[in-house]
Amino acid sequence: MKTKITSSPLVCFILLLLFLAFAFPECSVEARKNKAHHAKKPKPQHKHRGKNHKGSHRADRSPSLPPPSQTSLTSFDVLSFGALGDGVADDSLAIVSAWNAACKVEKATIRIPAGYTFLTSSITLQGPCAPGLVLQVDGNLKAPPAEAKSWLKSSTLQWLNFKWTHNFTIQGSGSVDGQGSNWWSKSTPTQDYQIQKRSDSIPDIKPTAIRFYSSNNVTIRDINIVNSPQCHLKFDDGRGVKVTNITISSPEDSPNTDGIHLQRTRDVEIQHSSIASGDDCVSIQTGSANVHIHHINCGPGHGISIGGLGKDRTAACVSDIIVESVSMLKTMYGARIKTWQGGIGYVKNVTFSSMQVSDVKVPVMIDQFYCDKHRCKNQTDAVAISDIKFNEITGTFSSQPIYLACSSSTPCTGVDLINIQLKPTYGFHELQHQRQALCWNSYGKTQAPLVPSSIDYCLGRPDHSSSVRQPSRSSSDIKC
Ligand SMILES: *[C@@H]1O[C@H](CO)[C@@H](O)[C@H](O)[C@H]1NC(C)=O
Ligand SMILES: *[C@@H]1O[C@H](CO)[C@@H](O)[C@H](O)[C@H]1NC(C)=O
Ligand SMILES: *[C@@H]1O[C@H](CO)[C@@H](O)[C@H](O)[C@H]1NC(C)=O
Ligand SMILES: *[C@@H]1O[C@H](CO)[C@@H](O)[C@H](O)[C@H]1NC(C)=O
Ligand SMILES: *[C@@H]1O[C@H](CO)[C@@H](O)[C@H](O)[C@H]1NC(C)=O
Repeated sequence: MKTKITSSPLVCFILLLLFLAFAFPECSVEARKNKAHHAKKPKPQHKHRGKNHKGSHRADRSPSLPPPSQTSLTSFDVLSFGALGDGVADDSLAIVSAWNAACKVEKATIRIPAGYTFLTSSITLQGPCAPGLVLQVDGNLKAPPAEAKSWLKSSTLQWLNFKWTHNFTIQGSGSVDGQGSNWWSKSTPTQDYQIQKRSDSIPDIKPTAIRFYSSNNVTIRDINIVNSPQCHLKFDDGRGVKVTNITISSPEDSPNTDGIHLQRTRDVEIQHSSIASGDDCVSIQTGSANVHIHHINCGPGHGISIGGLGKDRTAACVSDIIVESVSMLKTMYGARIKTWQGGIGYVKNVTFSSMQVSDVKVPVMIDQFYCDKHRCKNQTDAVAISDIKFNEITGTFSSQPIYLACSSSTPCTGVDLINIQLKPTYGFHELQHQRQALCWNSYGKTQAPLVPSSIDYCLGRPDHSSSVRQPSRSSSDIKC
């Protein structure tokens, strides 16, 4: 009896050991799997499980569409937040929810998946967020049509507003479509316009497609931005911008559709991109400094412009700008600086070099008398323009090779024209004077080769500029 009693627990123990030896490894693997599975699911996914589920059945509706991408701790697919991506339903709430969830997570990625079109009304995606946030745009983001009911009055300044986002990247092979055509027609007084105006269906202010406000260290790469109602990509009040390998396009006749607009933004690099629009490819406004633009295809459009600066007697500061290795095709201008009469401040230390121009109306321009009306009031004050180098600008022009118009009160100084070779596009039919360089109150030096030869005697010599009256308000202590 005694042995039986003691042996039975022993047998049980041995059996238990055998059981554990075979069963446990499997359990533990499963346990690890389960644990990993749970850990992978970020909180917001739980919250939206119902919709997530719906998303995963999307393949039933359209088998060609890819399923939502694998979720992980750092991946936030907008489909998992209830976006439909059918181009009809408004997906902005889902996008904002995905943003808010991802914003808290370091190195998170918000996914706009390929194969879908997400209609999004005007939204603000606000930081600051944990560093390294990425908006991965592989599908399409589409703006609502130009009608008042789709645009709250306060929201027409911009469509996608990134505010206080630091150390943030937008990338992907997708596109951002501003659906601008109905907005543009508004500025052409056609019969359509009259009808639209009467029914008051289009808001007065045309939105910028993508705006970065007060955001530091942002990168935009690879995406396409098309048909913005107004400016395509705008940076203001920021520091640290990198734009690489993007494409911007809208029709040549679309009004005020700047490609990239910089204002009160410094430390900027814009490179390896193509910009075709109805206005400036890049527009550099007051408060911009240390800007490097290179390897850009520009056109159609108005070229790369600094200004207009000093409108309504305002102060302007722009300095340390390099534009190089740029190709311009059929643009209105090439390298341009424009300022209004009556302004104060400065544009200094600017280099335009290695520019290839084809069929550009006026490849090189400085205009201190910029005026968008028929005539503007004559004023003495002017934004001072100094140390501007035009180097290696070659190709063809269709109106005038060089046009430098500076004021007698504040002439342009330190203007260098080096290796400029510009030939008229169309044979010799133009008026003789149009084919010559024009320089007015501009001082600096020239260096061969120079074509047409009129460039060589266009500028006043540097030593003459010192005898010129200095501006009444000193430009160096201007703050912008
Ligand atoms: C964000 O910061 C990290 C670490 O400093 C850096 O590697 C990365 O390039 C930054 N990204 C942007 C967009 O500035
Ligand atoms: C931006 O990047 C620079 C250089 O990488 C860094 O020194 C600076 O702290 C960054 N600023 C912000 C606000 O992330
Ligand atoms: C540029 O962007 C396109 C997508 O728009 C991508 O296919 C290509 O690989 C990118 N090129 C580089 C050099 O990153
Ligand atoms: C002119 O600007 C360039 C580019 O930003 C900069 O490297 C250089 O130091 C500036 N020169 C002067 C004299 O400020
Ligand atoms: C402005 O100045 C120009 C050149 O001195 C002169 O021809 C023109 O009549 C002036 N315009 C006005 C509105 O005073």
